[in-house]
Amino acid sequence: MVGLGRPERLHDAPVNPPIVFSSTFIGTQAPAPGDYLYSRYGNPTWDPLEAAIGTLEASPAPALIYASGMAAVAAALSLVPLGGRVVLPQHGYNGSLSLARELESRGALTAVFTDLSDTEGTIALLTGADLLWLESPTNPMLEVADIAALAAAARTAGALTVVDNTFATPLLQRPLELGADLVVHSATKFLGGHSDVLLGAIAVADPALRETLWQHRVQNGAIAGPMEAWLCLRGLRTLAVRVERAVANAGELARRLAEHPGVSNVRYPGLPGDPGHQLAARQMKAFGAVLCLEVGADVAGTERFLDALRVWVPATSLGGVESLVERRRRYASEPASIPETMVRLSVGIEHVDDLWADLVQAIEAAQ
Ligand SMILES: Cc1ncc(COP(=O)(O)O)c(C=O)c1O
Repeated sequence: MVGLGRPERLHDAPVNPPIVFSSTFIGTQAPAPGDYLYSRYGNPTWDPLEAAIGTLEASPAPALIYASGMAAVAAALSLVPLGGRVVLPQHGYNGSLSLARELESRGALTAVFTDLSDTEGTIALLTGADLLWLESPTNPMLEVADIAALAAAARTAGALTVVDNTFATPLLQRPLELGADLVVHSATKFLGGHSDVLLGAIAVADPALRETLWQHRVQNGAIAGPMEAWLCLRGLRTLAVRVERAVANAGELARRLAEHPGVSNVRYPGLPGDPGHQLAARQMKAFGAVLCLEVGADVAGTERFLDALRVWVPATSLGGVESLVERRRRYASEPASIPETMVRLSVGIEHVDDLWADLVQAIEAAQ
């Protein structure tokens, strides 16, 4: 990652790729394949980032980057034929699920929701499906899906498998190697890593799919700005150390929280008692940096807990260097099966003892 996407080693060349702020590119003849032409088709600042994400996801082709994770989600869903059937997680990222429901309400597709941790139950829903949408671990319930088994069943059923790999990052899980056809990222999260840029990405197993998606991006215009692409590449250079530290912090905090008398529930696939633990241990290199907890209080007490935090930042999103915390049911759109008092923690790279001390005093404030 540190070396990915560097300019050619020529005398006096810059170490970092330059940012190209140009909406258009000079030409008089018919454009040749690969020409930039106009910045909705391509921009030199995208290239090193797309190459780097493609490499990290073990794709045979460069990734495609988008204006946001949701733009990438929308592009992936555009592969569903009109009236097609899509199987999605009941507790996945609510933006993706809302988009699928909205497309369904317009007759574009049929959305079928499943508990992804139930492999057999999900496979049973794949008959006649065109697309299987996976998140693993899911946002926010951290359920773990058996990607290899589900992608194989989807292939047999004639469906494409998409994995939203935002929570795991390619360092902890490579869905294309497990049989998925596409990987989607909200690069806003861990890939960018500093809560300063919105960006999305798709990596593909089959370069022909890239061509289809590239056409869709040109036509729909959900392109990334050069500044955002450059910032994301800069963030990507530290992905390995950020993820290593954040995952270590998350594991340690999950263990401490599980033993704290003021905590009634902790969800983290790294805890041996977690329902997704065995599968995650097999499928992932480590368990990620997001966990969920309940502080044994009602919603008002949970909000007192959030207000009392001083190191953790109460804000939506995840995957940045700073630790963020959010009660997901503050959104009316979040499914009722997610506990009202459940708080999602995105663990950052601060000192674990600072994070712990802050949690302990805030848990007391909640009681
Ligand atoms: C798992 C997941 N996928 C996709 C998205 C959408 O990404 P963005 O906010 O960059 O549009 C999010 C955002 O929170 C997410 O958590």
